[in-house]
Amino acid sequence: MKVAVIGTGYVGLTTAVSLAMNGHQVTGIDLDASKVEKLRQGISPIYEPGLDEALKKVLDDGALAFYTDLTEAKDAEIFFICVGTPEAVDGTADLTYLLGAVSDIGKVHSLAPQERIVVIKSTVPVGTGEKVAGMLAGCQGVSVASNPEFLREGSALIDALEPSRIVIGVDNPQAAARMEELYNGVKAPRVITNRANAELIKYASNAFLATRISFMNELARLSTALGTDIVTIARGMGLDSRIGPQFLRAGVGYGGSCFPKDTIALLQLAAEHNIHLSILDKVREVNATQPAWFLEQLCLQLPDLKGKQIAVLGLTFKPDTDDIREAPSLKLIEELLQKGASVKAFDPIGVSGVSKQFPQITYTQSAAEACEGAHAAILVTEWEQCVQLDWKQVYQSMAQPLLVDGRNAWPHQEVKEAGFHYIGVGRS
Ligand SMILES: NC(=O)c1ccc[n+]([C@@H]2O[C@H](COP(=O)([O-])OP(=O)(O)OC[C@H]3O[C@@H](n4cnc5c(N)ncnc54)[C@H](O)[C@@H]3O)[C@@H](O)[C@H]2O)c1
Repeated sequence: MKVAVIGTGYVGLTTAVSLAMNGHQVTGIDLDASKVEKLRQGISPIYEPGLDEALKKVLDDGALAFYTDLTEAKDAEIFFICVGTPEAVDGTADLTYLLGAVSDIGKVHSLAPQERIVVIKSTVPVGTGEKVAGMLAGCQGVSVASNPEFLREGSALIDALEPSRIVIGVDNPQAAARMEELYNGVKAPRVITNRANAELIKYASNAFLATRISFMNELARLSTALGTDIVTIARGMGLDSRIGPQFLRAGVGYGGSCFPKDTIALLQLAAEHNIHLSILDKVREVNATQPAWFLEQLCLQLPDLKGKQIAVLGLTFKPDTDDIREAPSLKLIEELLQKGASVKAFDPIGVSGVSKQFPQITYTQSAAEACEGAHAAILVTEWEQCVQLDWKQVYQSMAQPLLVDGRNAWPHQEVKEAGFHYIGVGRS
């Protein structure tokens, strides 16, 4: 099928490449001319494992092309909207980019009217599909579908090719059939429903995952007080098939471009309907206070951080991505600097984004180099390059052998044997 993908960020680029790999003829559109230029050369503007190679292949095959102007895709049967829906000042989802894209689609449709589906893949509040359908009511033959995205940064391409589920919200069976045709051959359970249900499934999923994380983070605080081990507790819990092992990992808190903004957007959506989602409110509260709680654990060992050198290992919000949006590292660095510490940081990919915000700190070429002369090292993102270190050598190079593991990912027995004082999140 002929498909246009509007917005070629993390979701749009992955969607465009995966659809092209699945045999569709795809046109990627982005307002950002420098991004489009890079993409045309086969250079992915974002870091995602496997994406560069896949992008080059579909460009070479002629299955994917990029433009800044949507009229280049005027004969597309399906228009995917994958633009950002960031947090507005009041916490609601800012739909400015989305509504801009809808207005562009309206104009292009009038140039080349035909049967087509406008698919909202961006995460949007319940009712947005309805609103978009209203905006396009004058465009004969146009249906509006909601098809939320569940990919995880760091494994985005695999997730797009082998999704956990395909959720399609439509208001007519013809559009449902066309969407089924688009995803023909993709093995995944389908949820075919109305647009509002599809929209809420996305927010509810992210809110629930955030809840699991905050639950474990709060439990980790208790575990620290009790001297129990949260990693063992999580394993014991996760073996219960009603619970499952995913998202039970305590740490420095969640970040990224989705959970923070989607949880507040869901709270705001509920508030508009006079519903207070009190659990979700607490989930956000726990997450907001987790970095400070984590630094308290460091300060129990190093009460005065003034003049102390701290190694911060890992800057992106999770490994295998270059995304630093709402990354816990940003809060931690800010707090450390406020307390008078000097920071040496390492990340295999995320330095360029962070260095714009914190030009005053030192960025190193390796995790081991960041630890040289440090009074403590903290693990913020569990990149392999930050986890697998020569601990004996690191021990020799540090001013004080203190490791504070914000992801419970360092081999705690091994580092203790190497002589370190090790503190995890909720570890005995
Ligand atoms: N990043 C994720 O892991 C993820 C996962 C699931 C869902 N989502 C949702 O998907 C949406 C996109 O997220 P993202 O992380 O890919 O965003 P992003 O910021 O990486 O990319 C958005 C892109 O859209 C472009 N754009 C904006 N307006 C445009 C327009 N009118 N025409 C053409 N291009 C336009 C921007 O230039 C940018 O390149 C959001 O709603 C997000 O919540 C994201």
